[in-house]
Amino acid sequence: MMSNNITGKVVVITGASSGLGEAAARHLAAEGAKVVLGARRADRLGALVSEITSAGGEALAVATDVTVLADVQALVDAAVETFGRIDVLINNAGLMPLSPIESLKVDEWDRMIDVNIRGVLHGIAAALPHMKTQKSGQIITTSSVAGHLVFPASAVYSGTKYAVRAICEGLRQEVKPYNIRTTTLCPGAVKTELLDHISDVEVKAANSDYVGQVGIPANSFARMAAFAIGQPEDVDVNEIIFRPTAQLL
Ligand SMILES: NC(=O)c1ccc[n+]([C@@H]2O[C@H](COP(=O)([O-])OP(=O)(O)OC[C@H]3O[C@@H](n4cnc5c(N)ncnc54)[C@H](OP(=O)(O)O)[C@@H]3O)[C@@H](O)[C@H]2O)c1
Repeated sequence: MMSNNITGKVVVITGASSGLGEAAARHLAAEGAKVVLGARRADRLGALVSEITSAGGEALAVATDVTVLADVQALVDAAVETFGRIDVLINNAGLMPLSPIESLKVDEWDRMIDVNIRGVLHGIAAALPHMKTQKSGQIITTSSVAGHLVFPASAVYSGTKYAVRAICEGLRQEVKPYNIRTTTLCPGAVKTELLDHISDVEVKAANSDYVGQVGIPANSFARMAAFAIGQPEDVDVNEIIFRPTAQLL
């Protein structure tokens, strides 16, 4: 049988309690990966672990707040202690409380910077030492179409998603000596819980209408992650942008 280059890999996923991360966990476990799931809502992670293990897969959950470096280190360390290594980190946790800058929702800006940027850096800090020692690994980060363009009320969110693209391109160049692959995934509108945290009523309504109309299922992201992981080890898929066929910008 041809290897899918996913079976047996230890894959750590942040933001695995809903949306894209949850779909990736389910899909990669079905492809034979050992998935290690991080997010704050431990009950949701526990239910997903039960579902995956009942289906014959291997999964582990660790309650994790990605803004706390020690939490992310504990998540990665649990993967290494339980399964012996970490092959893939999917730096996926994020939030998108869109609003116009003049609304000055500074707390929400800070929160996006903490989770979307600092959380990704914590993931890199936790995984890189192990991957350097192994001389193999793959760091996947969820950016966005909003990491390539700015739309009304997206200035700060887009800023965080541009930032992680820059960080991951720098990482890509620097980890050549260690045989580590780096992949940035940039989804367009996907139906998840992402819009739930928009506090601006009008912005939330406009985005909910749009995503409701054109949004595609979270499994689309899971297939992109599987494609990037499943390539032969000498092939590094650096970035994938994907949108609903119906999405204009
Ligand atoms: N859906 C889209 O259209 C779309 C498009 C482009 C990019 N993205 C990006 O995709 C990623 C996943 O979002 P989603 O669409 O799947 O939204 P979602 O359903 O709201 O999922 C967000 C995930 O992030 C986790 N999270 C939030 N804050 C966290 C923290 N401090 N520590 C640990 N985990 C945290 C949440 O878990 P807990 O609340 O349990 O901690 C949840 O599992 C985000 O980076 C988002 O920016 C989404």
